[in-house]
Order: sequence, then structure tokens, then C-alpha cells
Amino acid sequence: MTQTAAVRGLEGVIAASTAVSHVYGEEGRLVYRGYDIYELAGKASFEEVAYLLWNGELPTSQQLRHLKERLSAHRGLGSEGLSVLQALSNDALPMDVLRTVVSTVGLEERVADRQKGEEALESAIVLTAVIPTILAAFDRRRRGLEPVEPRTDLDHAQNYLYMLRGSEPSPADSRALDMYFVLLADHGMNASTFTARVIASTEADMASAVVGAIGALKGPLHGGAPSLVLDMLDAIEKPENAEPWMRGALSRGDRLMGFGHRVYKAEDPRAEILRRLASEMDQTELFSLASAAEKTGLRLLEEQKPGRRLYTNVEFYSSVVLNAVGLPRDLFTATFAASRTAGWSAHVLEQYGDNRLIRPQSQYTGPQGKRFEPLERRG
Ligand code: ACO
Repeated sequence: MTQTAAVRGLEGVIAASTAVSHVYGEEGRLVYRGYDIYELAGKASFEEVAYLLWNGELPTSQQLRHLKERLSAHRGLGSEGLSVLQALSNDALPMDVLRTVVSTVGLEERVADRQKGEEALESAIVLTAVIPTILAAFDRRRRGLEPVEPRTDLDHAQNYLYMLRGSEPSPADSRALDMYFVLLADHGMNASTFTARVIASTEADMASAVVGAIGALKGPLHGGAPSLVLDMLDAIEKPENAEPWMRGALSRGDRLMGFGHRVYKAEDPRAEILRRLASEMDQTELFSLASAAEKTGLRLLEEQKPGRRLYTNVEFYSSVVLNAVGLPRDLFTATFAASRTAGWSAHVLEQYGDNRLIRPQSQYTGPQGKRFEPLERRG
């Protein structure tokens, strides 16, 4: 290999082969295991999609029943996780809580160091199953409420809302969150998935890979944006303020949250599906504000960043949908992680299945030939 110059941000670099999912950025398409996202959204449940990502095919009804049983059997958090959760401050950020408590799941026998076939898949199931329990227990505790035991008869999204609220959610809310989980479950070689694969490539356990991925997802350039979209909409307050507010932000060099993407140079299909979903939910005022802000944002970005092809990304309407199902905004990114764990773990399984240590080179830009100065001679 003769390449000597680093590609900033690895932009355009093909860093791995994968059959799990792909983003066709120019066309604005997302494919999971051969299925266009439009084939799955609103038709397949999160459990079916998790099965698809992990196994390569959609499940039969018997396979789906079996997976649902395994997921619901693993919803409980182990004693180490519970005591660490109890020790954390109520003021902690849910993403920090998640990163910390998922780490304890890696200590459990059902997850630790299982890297072969069915055993590794079991770790994927445990991690995916337990994350909503961690988030709901933390959220209830900071509200001064007792945790609600997971139910085995509810689907994944439905059970998450049930544990948060302490009562069964409406079918509409369950369906909306389930659809959100389907849309966010995987997304090609994004920063957090790449992180998970790098960790897995060292033959580390799956919990370590998921903990690393949670850290990578946290930042606003990746999964940290949806609550910032709502903060932006709060600041804009009413549709007629969108233009002056957004012009002001752009003139200060700020980024408009929920717009732009490294790979999509056309509209993100998930944004289109979530826009439609958000328009059907019971929050007309917020949707009208979001819609006006979106139109203004797109117009101003085209005017001020011509040729950059900046479109609405998944986070923009995720924020409206998650708000509509009653999630507090600081749970948005952690809820994204709850969905993406299916994708991260699918990539880890793929990496384990055909592993080669991921260890790239760097371009050295530091000095050469320096001589050691003893401490007493260094000013
Ligand atoms: N607002 C204003 N300008 C933007 C935005 C935005 N949201 N996004 C990109 N630009 C501008 C950049 O300033 C840059 O302008 P320049 O050429 O004059 O310097 C140009 O568009 C290209 O931007 P890059 O920084 O090269 O784009 P990159 O691929 O690195 O970033 C990213 C993609 C991080 C998503 C970016 O668009 C962004 O910061 N968006 C806002 C935050 C956001 O919505 N994050 C969620 C992403 S979705 C996800 O990860 C799940």
C-alpha cells in the first residue's frame, strides 16, 4: 500500500465490507440486507428487523416467536447493573448512565466473552433486550418513582413505553416508536458502527463494542442532535421567527441541527418517513413549527451553502416523533442507542465471523530528530 496522505475524516474511504446495510447517498436510499427501508417501515416490527440484521433473512412466524421469547427473557437487569444504577446521580445524562450500566452487562456470564455463533448472537439479544430496562429504570428513579418490571407479553417498543410510564401505551404510540426503532436500527458504516467494529476486530467482547459505540453516538455530529433540534424549535418559538433565527445562527457560523449528512446528497429516506409519521401524531402546533423551520432551513442552506446539497436528516423529525410519544428530550439519543444496538451487534457478529484486526496507518506530521534534554536543563 503506497498511500501516504490521510483522508480527513475518512471521507469516502471504504473501511469494511458488509452485507448488513448500506446507504446509497446519491440516491437517498437505505437498504437492510437487500430490503429498501420503504419495504420495511410500517410493515416489519423491530423484532423482525433485528432478526433480519442478525441472521440475514426475515424470520418465519416460529422464528419470530422464538426471538421474542428470548428478548423478553433477557429484559431484566443483573444485580451488578442494578447496584451501579442505584449509585449514579439523578442528574447524570442518560447516555452516560447507559454507557456505564451497559458496561456491567459485560460482566454477566450471559454476555462475557462469547464470540462464537449462537453464543455471540445471545449477547446481541441480551444487550438489545436490556437497554430499554436500564433507561426506563433510570428515568423513573430520577422522577422519584419505583422501577416497573418489564413485561414478557409486550413487544420491544411497547414494553419500553410501558416501563417508562407504568401503564400500557396506546397502540398509536407503540406503533410510532416501533417504526422509529425500525428506521434507526442500522445505517451502514456510520461513526458508532465503525467504532463497534474496530473494538470487535481486536476480539474484544460484544459489550465492550457496544459501550464504545454508545460513546461514539453521543456527540452532536452523530446521535446527539435530536434534542438540540427541539431546543432550536423552542428558541424559534413560532413559524414567522424561523427566518431571522436561522439567519442569525448561520451568520454566527452555527450549524442548523437536523440538516446535512456526510453520505446523503439527497433526502434521507428516514426523514421522509418520519415527517409523514410526525404529521399523523397528535401535536399539530409542534409539527407546524417544525415544518416551517424545515422549509426555511433548507432554503437558507441552499442560499448560504450553495452546492453542498444539505437536506433534512433523520434527527429532525425523530425529535418530533419522540416528543409525541412522551419521551423527555434527554432520552432521545439513548433511545436511538436502544434501536441501534441491533445494528451494532449485527456488525459485531459479522466482524467476528470473518475477522481481521482493523489497524490503519497514520500520516505523521510531527517533528523528527529531537534530542533528550535532562529535566533540570529544561527551562
Ligand atoms: N448547518 C449549517 N451548515 C452546515 C450544516 C448544517 N447543519 N451541515 C453542513 N454544513 C455546511 C458546513 O459548514 C460546510 O460548509 P463549508 O463548505 O462552507 O465549510 C458544508 O456544509 C459541508 O459540511 P461538512 O462539515 O463537510 O459535512 P460533514 O459531512 O462533515 O458533516 C454533519 C455532516 C456532521 C451531519 C453536518 O451536516 C452537521 O453538523 N449537521 C448538524 C448536526 C446534525 O444534524 N447531526 C445529526 C447527523 S445524523 C446522524 O448522525 C444520525
